[in-house]
Amino acid sequence: MPGIPQFYKENHTHQTLEHVLAMKQRYGRLDNAWMGVWEALELMDGLVDSADPDVKTTQAVHALQTAETVRRDGQPDWFILTALIHDLGKILYFMGESQWTVVGDTFPVGCRYAEKIVYREFFANNPDFYDSLYSSAHGIYTPHCGLRNVHLSFGHDEYMYMVCKNYLPPEALAIIRYHSFYSWHTEGEYAWLMDDHDVEMLKWVKQFNKYDLGSNLVEDPPDLESLKPFYTDLIAKFFPPKIRW
Ligand SMILES: [Fe+2]
Ligand SMILES: [Fe+2]
Repeated sequence: MPGIPQFYKENHTHQTLEHVLAMKQRYGRLDNAWMGVWEALELMDGLVDSADPDVKTTQAVHALQTAETVRRDGQPDWFILTALIHDLGKILYFMGESQWTVVGDTFPVGCRYAEKIVYREFFANNPDFYDSLYSSAHGIYTPHCGLRNVHLSFGHDEYMYMVCKNYLPPEALAIIRYHSFYSWHTEGEYAWLMDDHDVEMLKWVKQFNKYDLGSNLVEDPPDLESLKPFYTDLIAKFFPPKIRW
């Protein structure tokens, strides 16, 4: 894995509106796999994501640690499940996708990049940066059109949202779809894109972020096999045995 700055250079260079639309079309068909949610989690047991500075464990351990912390806090079922599956979109790695379009902070494309996007200087190599429409303040969007009408850079968040969108409540979908959108949920950028629904959802996304970042503070790595009965039951409350990926 190249260093973090090198990673962001690639990410910010190649995440154009054109790229995002092509990836949404390609992966939105959900014709890549037919499998259960727990099966996908087991695949993640073999994956350490070196682009994630906050997670040193395998992705399965990160999923279970996040979910267990949420569970211990007495959060509702859907929230525990969301914590478990929030990063499962990283299965894109197994579909041959490059790191720069799987992970990293996400940001809107098709309008000016906000000041507080991490490594913003690397947009200098992105062709959209020089497009008069895409680099204008509002770009292709109408103020307060709602984030659901905004194209974010493509990664594991958007992909997992597409996989889950028929199965989970809106709060869960917002967490999954926007958890890497740090310039919005943590830095307060892009308020001009939000509608009333997004204002409500932001509270949940912020709440989730604490668990996501705090999961590495859990001391003992959770045991996949002993937690399996609880989590397979929880998954079955929301998902059929197999879903399209
Ligand atoms: Fe993530
Ligand atoms: Fe995560």
